[in-house]
Amino acid sequence: MRGSGRVAMISGATRGIGAEIADALRAEGYTLSLGVRRPEAARARFGPDGGDLLIFPYEAADASAARAWVEATRMRFDRIDVLVANAGIAPFVGLEDGDPADLDRLFAIDVRAPFLLVQAALPALKASGAGRVVTVASLSGKRVMGLNAGYQMMKHALVALSHAVRRVGWEHGIRATALCPGFVATDLTAHVTDPQPDAMTDPKDLARLVATVVGLPNTASVAELLVNCRYEHML
Ligand SMILES: NC(=O)c1ccc[n+]([C@@H]2O[C@H](COP(=O)([O-])OP(=O)(O)OC[C@H]3O[C@@H](n4cnc5c(N)ncnc54)[C@H](OP(=O)(O)O)[C@@H]3O)[C@@H](O)[C@H]2O)c1
Repeated sequence: MRGSGRVAMISGATRGIGAEIADALRAEGYTLSLGVRRPEAARARFGPDGGDLLIFPYEAADASAARAWVEATRMRFDRIDVLVANAGIAPFVGLEDGDPADLDRLFAIDVRAPFLLVQAALPALKASGAGRVVTVASLSGKRVMGLNAGYQMMKHALVALSHAVRRVGWEHGIRATALCPGFVATDLTAHVTDPQPDAMTDPKDLARLVATVVGLPNTASVAELLVNCRYEHML
């Protein structure tokens, strides 16, 4: 299943993993709808809005943003086939002294926003007959290793959301994948020294995986993609 004629929404596509996924899907022929809080940065990378590219202002913390972006996408392209919920943050919210306000913001952006996006896009994804949802979760959604309890909680919730999408969408041809990478070389990990950036997963490689799973037929569903740059006993 190639991208031609299919419409993909990607949140947080200005840089990092989201931008690479947008590049990869564009190369496959998908029409792109990018939900970004800095449209000028998206224009600088992908060119001006128009034709088979929609660049729409999307602030994930705003609970009304998902519906507005989905509506704009339907108005422009009349269909939605792929939703990639990628935008996310990772402030440190430790169990011992984490600030509840930080936890609330993390929840709003990393969990509530993807939930609202799926909810808004579900009718169009059902209509597609081969809808695809990729949530960019994390290995922190599969196990607890570091001390960022807030992030670990959110990413576990995001993996659960992805499985809920499979449950609800299956009979309608919707297939969902929770993408669970370890360290990826992006701005998000710029402060990390172990591993060094050149030993982290390249976001381009994640983008190749996403392009592959969203292009598979309904009969080849990949529920979770666990991608690591280093050895871990279980993953
Ligand atoms: N890097 C890793 O090691 C790693 C590992 C596992 C999972 N992940 C997940 O992968 C996803 C992308 O991360 P990344 O590494 O590519 O990070 P990144 O380089 O920091 O990029 C984050 C993207 O999310 C957007 N964003 C952040 N807050 C937003 C908001 N409130 N509303 C709308 N957009 C917002 C950013 O927009 P601006 O450009 O406007 O700031 C940017 O496009 C995140 O969900 C992250 O948790 C990352």
